[in-house]
Amino acid sequence: MNLDGQILQYRDFTEDYLKNIYKKFRTEPQTQLFNAMEYSLLAGGKRLRPVFAYEFCRMCGGQWQDAAPFAAAVEMIHTYSLIHDDLPCMDNDDFRRGRPTNHKVYGEGMAVLAGDALLTDAFMIASTGKLSQPWTMADAISLMAEGAGSLGMVGGQVLDIMSQERELSEQEVLDIQSRKTGRLINIACCLGAMAGGASRNQFEAASQFASGLGLAFQIRDDMLDVIGTREEMGKGVGTDAEKNTFVRLYGLEKCETLVQQYTDYAISALEAFDDREFMIALAKSLTERRV
Ligand code: IPE
Ligand code: IPE
Ligand code: MG
Ligand code: MG
Ligand code: MG
Repeated sequence: MNLDGQILQYRDFTEDYLKNIYKKFRTEPQTQLFNAMEYSLLAGGKRLRPVFAYEFCRMCGGQWQDAAPFAAAVEMIHTYSLIHDDLPCMDNDDFRRGRPTNHKVYGEGMAVLAGDALLTDAFMIASTGKLSQPWTMADAISLMAEGAGSLGMVGGQVLDIMSQERELSEQEVLDIQSRKTGRLINIACCLGAMAGGASRNQFEAASQFASGLGLAFQIRDDMLDVIGTREEMGKGVGTDAEKNTFVRLYGLEKCETLVQQYTDYAISALEAFDDREFMIALAKSLTERRV
């Protein structure tokens, strides 16, 4: 198993797929909207959620390419969440994926609308996918809507912005983190599993993996806000100092332990899959990521 080579293959495929989505709409008059959407969508990024989708599809016995519309849909929802997260009324950041943030280039109105359109179009793209027994498109669409909406990522972002004035309990911070970040990772893993025709047991395992990995990923993100650099990360650092992050509550050392613990929990869920070497190696590598 060649971790880097496989990640590269998944990433290149994702880039090509995403590049093609709006090509056919380029004769429409709302050119500036497509410019704004593609500005953020095609700005790189690790494409980690698509990698999860492809790999869970494969581990469940499917052709990994079958997860493509779902992988792209999650990346579109993720990109919308970042555009809105960076707005002056949210985190007020000016740098993302190595470029000025969307609203800095296109203005706030267009950035809001580019986010709205990416979210909505994600459902259009996902609906072109095919699922394997016992899963139906209705299962996939309701999983996406629940994970992205008021119960999931948006709910987490709301709790995040409402909690800045007071100290939270560990349980409250965990709840925020698992919603605002964990749920989109959950959608990626679970849609991939569905596209691969996962058994109920495998589906539950994908979901358990995502809940551990999502927490580890966001805690590492909060650590990188302190120990990372703008050059490596491609986004501003030190911008969440006032937030209720785990780093603020417990310090970097405990965070390192927590990242390990949640990653171990995620890895333990992979026992439901025979061919799990890639995913174990990927989860481990994320504990030390600098990007
Ligand atoms: C950043 O996500 C926002 C969080 C949910 C922590 P990523 O670190 O996956 O960002 P990209 O996609 O690589 O830009
Ligand atoms: C972002 O969390 C989570 C979502 C965008 C849903 P952060 O606010 O910590 O993400 P970054 O650090 O700006 O990427
Ligand atoms: Mg934020
Ligand atoms: Mg932010
Ligand atoms: Mg952050």
